[in-house]
Amino acid sequence: MLKLEKVTIRFGGLTAVNEVDMEVPKGSIFGLIGPNGAGKTTLFNIISGVYAPTSGRVLFEEKEIQGIPPYKVNKLGIARTYQNINLFKQMTVLENVMVGCHTKTGAGLMSSILRTRRQRAEEKSVREKCLDILHFMQLDSKIDFKSRNLSYGEQRRLEIARALASEPKLLLLDEPAAGMNGREKEELSETIRRINEKGVTVLLVEHDMKLVMNVTHIICVLNYGKKIAFGEPADIQQNQEVIAAYLGDTRND
Ligand SMILES: Nc1ncnc2c1ncn2[C@@H]1O[C@H](COP(=O)(O)OP(=O)(O)OP(=O)(O)O)[C@@H](O)[C@H]1O
Ligand SMILES: [Mg+2]
Repeated sequence: MLKLEKVTIRFGGLTAVNEVDMEVPKGSIFGLIGPNGAGKTTLFNIISGVYAPTSGRVLFEEKEIQGIPPYKVNKLGIARTYQNINLFKQMTVLENVMVGCHTKTGAGLMSSILRTRRQRAEEKSVREKCLDILHFMQLDSKIDFKSRNLSYGEQRRLEIARALASEPKLLLLDEPAAGMNGREKEELSETIRRINEKGVTVLLVEHDMKLVMNVTHIICVLNYGKKIAFGEPADIQQNQEVIAAYLGDTRND
């Protein structure tokens, strides 16, 4: 579904992502792990169109997408969440999800201003769809809350809800468990599985190794921008280079 070919990005003298080859199979839950500064978020930024790579190709469903702006990448079927929560704090939970939907609605600016009958009908169906997604993400009791008043874990779930609103084929999750307690993490594992069962391919960046090893089918490990390992969770856990670079670090719980 997603293929990276020798993807490289340099920031001045720093090579944040270095000739990374990676293939994410359709239908998989794919883990992308590695120590702080390894280049995981930068790779998400390249895939989602925030950065154009210095060199290399990004293919989504066999089409080159590197350098395409984020809104177009989203239209092609890739949505993401952010490591640093990126919600509209003053807007309600429902409004935040409806924003995510708007890449799909056909109504233009003028009809939005004039609120034509078509616009009102569209808004109703958008609202219903967003309510369904909020139900799926177990946020239905919070729809009228301002997003800034949600707990950290709820904000992370709302980010996922907003990403789902664009009906992605590929969902990129950047540290979705950060700040969550044990119970929330277990629920998140289940949610990721359920999203995947709906046919969405998931690319997961996460430091919580229990969650990663539990939920992913296949894992790619980055270290200093380079891919150092690729394989099934059980093999990755035994890989000496990965243990030395990352897993042996007791800071990973
Ligand atoms: N816009 C930028 N300009 C300069 N350097 C950058 C930029 N974005 C990222 N970097 C650098 O690229 C490297 C990779 O950063 P990145 O955020 O991708 O790491 P990460 O693997 O997501 O780490 P973490 O687990 O801490 O989130 C770091 O050294 C970072 O400082
Ligand atoms: Mg990161």
